[in-house]
Amino acid sequence: MTDTRAPIVTVETSNAIGLVAINNPPVNAASQAVRAGLVAAMDQLSVDTSVKVIAMYGVGRTFIAGADIREFGKPPQEPWLPDVCNRIEAMEKPVISVLHGNALGGGLEVALATHARIALPGLTIGFPEVTLGILPGAGGTQRAPRLAGIAASLDLITTGNRIEAEASHEIGLIDVIADGDPRDLAIKFAEQVLSGELETRRTGELTVTEDPDAIATVAETLKRKQPNLFSPHKCVEAVAASILPLSEGLQKERSLFFECMESPQRAGLIHAFFAERAVSKIPEAKETPRTIENIGVIGGGTMGSGIATACLLAGFQVILAERDEAGVERGVSIISGNLDGAVKRGKVTADQRDTILSNALSTTTDYAAFSDADLVIEAVFEDMDVKKSVFKQLDAICKDGAVLATNTSYLDVNEIAASTSRPEDVIGLHFFSPAHVMKLLEVVVADKTAPDVVATGFALGKRLRKIAVRAGVCDGFIGNRILNTYKKAADYLMMDGASPEEVDRAMVNYGFAMGPFTVGDLSGQDIGWAARKRQAPMRAQQERYVAIPDRLCEQEMFGRKTGKGYYVYGEGSPTLNPEAVAIIEDERAKAGITPRNFSEDEITARIMTAIIKEAISILEDGIALRPIDIDAVYLFGYGFPRFRGGPMHTADAIGAAELVKRIETYVQEDAFFWRVPNLLAETAQRGGKFAELNG
Ligand code: 3HC
Ligand code: NAI
Repeated sequence: MTDTRAPIVTVETSNAIGLVAINNPPVNAASQAVRAGLVAAMDQLSVDTSVKVIAMYGVGRTFIAGADIREFGKPPQEPWLPDVCNRIEAMEKPVISVLHGNALGGGLEVALATHARIALPGLTIGFPEVTLGILPGAGGTQRAPRLAGIAASLDLITTGNRIEAEASHEIGLIDVIADGDPRDLAIKFAEQVLSGELETRRTGELTVTEDPDAIATVAETLKRKQPNLFSPHKCVEAVAASILPLSEGLQKERSLFFECMESPQRAGLIHAFFAERAVSKIPEAKETPRTIENIGVIGGGTMGSGIATACLLAGFQVILAERDEAGVERGVSIISGNLDGAVKRGKVTADQRDTILSNALSTTTDYAAFSDADLVIEAVFEDMDVKKSVFKQLDAICKDGAVLATNTSYLDVNEIAASTSRPEDVIGLHFFSPAHVMKLLEVVVADKTAPDVVATGFALGKRLRKIAVRAGVCDGFIGNRILNTYKKAADYLMMDGASPEEVDRAMVNYGFAMGPFTVGDLSGQDIGWAARKRQAPMRAQQERYVAIPDRLCEQEMFGRKTGKGYYVYGEGSPTLNPEAVAIIEDERAKAGITPRNFSEDEITARIMTAIIKEAISILEDGIALRPIDIDAVYLFGYGFPRFRGGPMHTADAIGAAELVKRIETYVQEDAFFWRVPNLLAETAQRGGKFAELNG
């Protein structure tokens, strides 16, 4: 069979110029074929006596967006990118690069190895390696300091921040900014090299000005702020080596790069990168989404206002409905505050905020205003009767083809849909608080939801710049169903002897931003209380029930909002609430429990095993499409440590057999909660991995 693809690296020669074009869609990743193509191009052009200058550029939407991440974790294939960069830099003939779109990671490293860099306006450069658990491994840590100095390079390399052409020019990584077509510019600036107008030099031949203060400050800050992460500290070590002769610095970079490559954090972070993208691959992806321009939001409380803000910021027309004028006023004031925050964060200008408030937002207390809405998102109280009544009214008012969505956290979307005459138009769009900030959107597909309505949910997610994940209907969908189990595991540990502080500390040390008791205090203990009261009639008799959180709530200790929960909130850091401690001790005594000690590892092992077992049940029940969707929900909605890749990636890291062994131990204490899901047992038996189910 003939290969009909365009060659990945092509060479053209004319008028003493050798043009090298990189064409590896979609993002020109520096795959083995690109690396080999670049070396071949240099070999060819170095011996072509007609060629006096070489210019490289990217075909399509970008220059090289980095190494090919899909190759990581597999046996490396020659030629290696560092050798490609060294080969380019060592060329006798001047080599320049024209950069457009993105020059990231290995792409920037290739550019830094050329002898001058021309950027198109709109170019973004950066070293995202640290976000993938590695460091720039093709000379970036050595060449960037030679052009931009140690402090600016450290900033880029340890944060992964991306900067634009102008800023890149200011710090010295870019020589010229020019607008035009990349190929035309490559010819134009190659001619300038020939005429002597554009100077070229080898980055590796420059010297680095020592900056021990910058190194010490960044190293110290990272130790304090990112103690759990591996690669940022290695980035500092690598940049510190840039004061050495290039070959020695490159050697140091290489050995640190391999250390990072072998770290489990690299696998977790790269899994997270792909999880963000994998979730859009849904069965309904080929459907044409319905057109959405006008959005109705019902309920101007915490969620409704946040959802309205997110929609306004994405350019939609929004009508906000509340029960009365006071509700409307409250909602508008929250939205204005959210938009003020967006101005402060530089997301919109003050003028844009004013235009949004006066032209794009309208309000109502009468659902008749939704007659022309393309989508209505309900965010009223979490009460089935209230929701059903809202949907009945929407059914009577909304135009044909309008999408009717609920933001319910737990309730049965099938039942809500059944209260209308058009269940095919009903879907769950589960946002997370604060809705204009949080990345996750669970798109909850009910039994009768039409495929194009699902596609519409995903299209909306994209427009809102959120990560949409497909979920099925069950109590709590993917995220909150696991959260329930997580909380139960934490409560059982507390009942059996661990203090809320010990549990919270263990989870923070594991990598979560906060532990479960701190989170409960922050979001309000009353929310879980309401859910438990609703679930009480369905609760199985054998289920172990911990009444401590209910008792806190009975005394109005809801957490931060009432000044007290598991912790007391006042001046300074929160401290453990003695009243909560008394309740805990009382409940233990009533249940005849002698508290025992749990090590931090034991706490983490139990909680992670509980989370994973629930995640596996969710897969078995068909609520999540694939393990990677569950990972995305936890990474982007629940603060799961990114470097651990999500619960299912962690399950594979722990191993199915070990998980079964743990549950078989815990089952002796509580046979109802601790059950081995069939899928886990099967996976353990055949020595498999859950990643195999990602397809
Ligand atoms: N390697 C392999 N595949 C990549 C890739 C890479 N570096 N970058 C993007 N892709 C893939 C994506 O997975 C996606 O595939 P899919 O269509 O099958 O899901 C496709 O390219 C398009 O990517 P996006 O959906 O992200 O497209 P956008 O236009 O939204 O964004 C981008 C483009 C800004 C380039 C973004 O993809 C990005 O940030 N990529 C990662 C860049 C990166 O991290 N580079 C550093 C790599 S590490 C390195 O270079 C090591 C070196 O120092 C040795
Ligand atoms: P909230 O109590 O802050 O806001 C609800 C608002 O709905 C109130 O302002 C109320 O006046 C209004 N409302 C009630 N009935 C109405 C009606 N018939 N018509 C118009 N407005 C009406 O509640 P919150 O936290 O915003 O939650 C709303 C929904 O979002 C619930 O279903 C909740 O489960 C869900 N949710 C909540 C999250 C959270 O973190 N708070 C996260 C994700 C979902």
